[in-house]
Amino acid sequence: MQPIKMVDLHRQYLTIKDEIDQAIQSVLDSSEFIMGRVVDEFEHELSQYLEAKFVIGCASGTDALLIAMMAMEIGPGDEVITSPFSFAAAAEAIAFLGARPVYVDIDSRTYNIDPNLISDGITQKTKAILPVHLFGQSADMEPILSLAQENDLKVIEDSAQSIGARYHNRFVGTLGDIGCLSFYPTKNLGAYGDAGALLTNDSSLAQTCRMITEHGSRVRYHHETLGINSRLDSLQAAVLKVKLKHLERWTEARIRIAQTYTQALSGLGLVIPYSPAYAKHVYHQYSIRTPRRDEVAAFLKDKGMPCSIHYPVPLHKQPAFRELVEPGTRFPVAETVAKQILSLPIFPELEDREIDTITSSLRQFFEIPSS
Ligand SMILES: Cc1ncc(COP(=O)(O)O)c(C=O)c1O
Repeated sequence: MQPIKMVDLHRQYLTIKDEIDQAIQSVLDSSEFIMGRVVDEFEHELSQYLEAKFVIGCASGTDALLIAMMAMEIGPGDEVITSPFSFAAAAEAIAFLGARPVYVDIDSRTYNIDPNLISDGITQKTKAILPVHLFGQSADMEPILSLAQENDLKVIEDSAQSIGARYHNRFVGTLGDIGCLSFYPTKNLGAYGDAGALLTNDSSLAQTCRMITEHGSRVRYHHETLGINSRLDSLQAAVLKVKLKHLERWTEARIRIAQTYTQALSGLGLVIPYSPAYAKHVYHQYSIRTPRRDEVAAFLKDKGMPCSIHYPVPLHKQPAFRELVEPGTRFPVAETVAKQILSLPIFPELEDREIDTITSSLRQFFEIPSS
């Protein structure tokens, strides 16, 4: 058996090779490399799929977060409330604009921001709440949206890991003012390079975001606002347009794999992913939790099996952002989870026998015979 990978992109490519090769060839034939027709088509198809009025492609998920906050004029002196347990991009974009990320601890079961703690973080300086839908599962949006409304705050959803996930029956990324998507290759909808998108139902914000992606201009060489260069590349749009058609099928495969893991790992005393009734989880990651995380990871590694830690260091402890946090600030749930969390391989093409190899090893670690 080939070594198991955390994510095997090549395996997926082989299943759609003809469609992808053709799509790439057609961009080469048109030689419309920037803002070609395929970008419009992909944005349109994505807006239909996600039921978002406006989709604006851009160069990465990190840029989407940055552009969203630029469009909202978030800057020096402002505060944005977010999760300390996530990939660094949101905190980075907040800090990059001269604003301050204000962290609020997470819920120990969903690993998303705990809505019950958010009001403690709101001050006169707060401009927005930025929940992250981590690992493929929606944050609890109803209380977040109510708090935002009561306090006149914007809501920016970091949906980078959660395309296709739902909160009740609505797609994440379409519930707040702006949703930010990443199409980093290993994401549930992954490009073959960097790419991202903004989602919004607000036409004025959509226009501003679009301008920002194009150097602040609507008309070439006329710059109305401060912008950047962050366009969705035509080759990436062509790849994404092909892959979008397969996304629902791939999501269902992820859900089935997660169920197989959950069944096979029962009785080991591990904390398995928890999904509240409001959420349709799309399992960007399947992350387990145990106080013996480091031993388990070493055991799996020894057996040639991959696993990853998302994320080992909470954001308030990262040197890059440490200055923006009051010394001694603690987020006990995020800190504990960061010490215990472990992600197992998950991608739509992962085979049952591979899942079986991984779960048998975990059972062996806990000295419980495979059932
Ligand atoms: C939660 C989260 N936010 C933002 C990003 C940034 O996306 P990108 O890598 O496309 O810039 C990522 C991706 O890695 C992510 O996981």
